Amino acid sequence: MHLINFKGLSGQQIMEIVDKGIEMKHSPEEYSDSLHGKTLAMIFQKTSTRTRVSFEVAMTQMGGHAIYLDWRATNFTLADIYDETQYLSRNVDCILARLLRNSDLQVMARASRVPVINGCDEKYHPTQVIADLITMKEKRGTLKGARLVYVGIHNNVCNSLIEACTKVGVEIITVTPIFNEPSRDEELLEEARRTGLWKTTLDLKEAVRDADFVYTDTWVDMEFFLDPRYAEEKERRIKLMMPYQLNRENLAGSSAWIMHDMPIHRGYEISPDIIEDSRSIIYEQSENRLYSAKAVLLKLLSKY
Ligand code: CP
Repeated sequence: MHLINFKGLSGQQIMEIVDKGIEMKHSPEEYSDSLHGKTLAMIFQKTSTRTRVSFEVAMTQMGGHAIYLDWRATNFTLADIYDETQYLSRNVDCILARLLRNSDLQVMARASRVPVINGCDEKYHPTQVIADLITMKEKRGTLKGARLVYVGIHNNVCNSLIEACTKVGVEIITVTPIFNEPSRDEELLEEARRTGLWKTTLDLKEAVRDADFVYTDTWVDMEFFLDPRYAEEKERRIKLMMPYQLNRENLAGSSAWIMHDMPIHRGYEISPDIIEDSRSIIYEQSENRLYSAKAVLLKLLSKY
């Protein structure tokens, strides 16, 4: 079994991972030997802080070992992904991959003899969203009936939130004036529409009024953020998105918890005072990446 997105998982199976993550957070010693002798290869085509650290620490704390591979320093750069993955999966027990293209990840998944975990591509970010659901359940006690508002660009994180929320009974409202076309997955959106739990609007103030959680993310994908060739599009997005910034004015009348998957671009998608506000659970959410990583690894490697 791979974890590319949530398509192969029911709401109940997603909740089992979420609940396992919460249990592992409170009883880490019970899992300190669960992955003894297991090795995770972590290969990154893009930058990362949380995904890399959380999976590496998870392997260490569960008695296993992680190998970090910078894509540019491997022969994936000059050979076929299928052949290189055939080799890699004969030496390790699991592969975490952060690739630029989901189509390449699909090739990797087809070639691999061991589970492949999507560490964020242009379409999905499932391990982030497991951490998000852990955070929401910790705060609210139950996910069923919760209302999450996602404000920003319709991107990979937005897709995974829509997919997971509608499966576990969370109402999700997206306020996304721009759609990142490479992230488009009509099948995922159609499935979500059928549940009646996903709505989309551009009325931010109305959307956040009764929200339990308000969530935002970067307006520019990490691989383009510092790329001078993307500067014009970045400026266009900043201008168009500024009215949708999470700030005091836009959140007036809302008592929702504030979420962000990080890295944060202070003063763009969120104002600095909102990051520090008592309603902000952003840093707890980032800490929960570790328990998400642990629960996902345990699910794929020891099949609870
Ligand atoms: N949220 C997230 O995936 O963080 P990194 O890009 O730092 O891994």
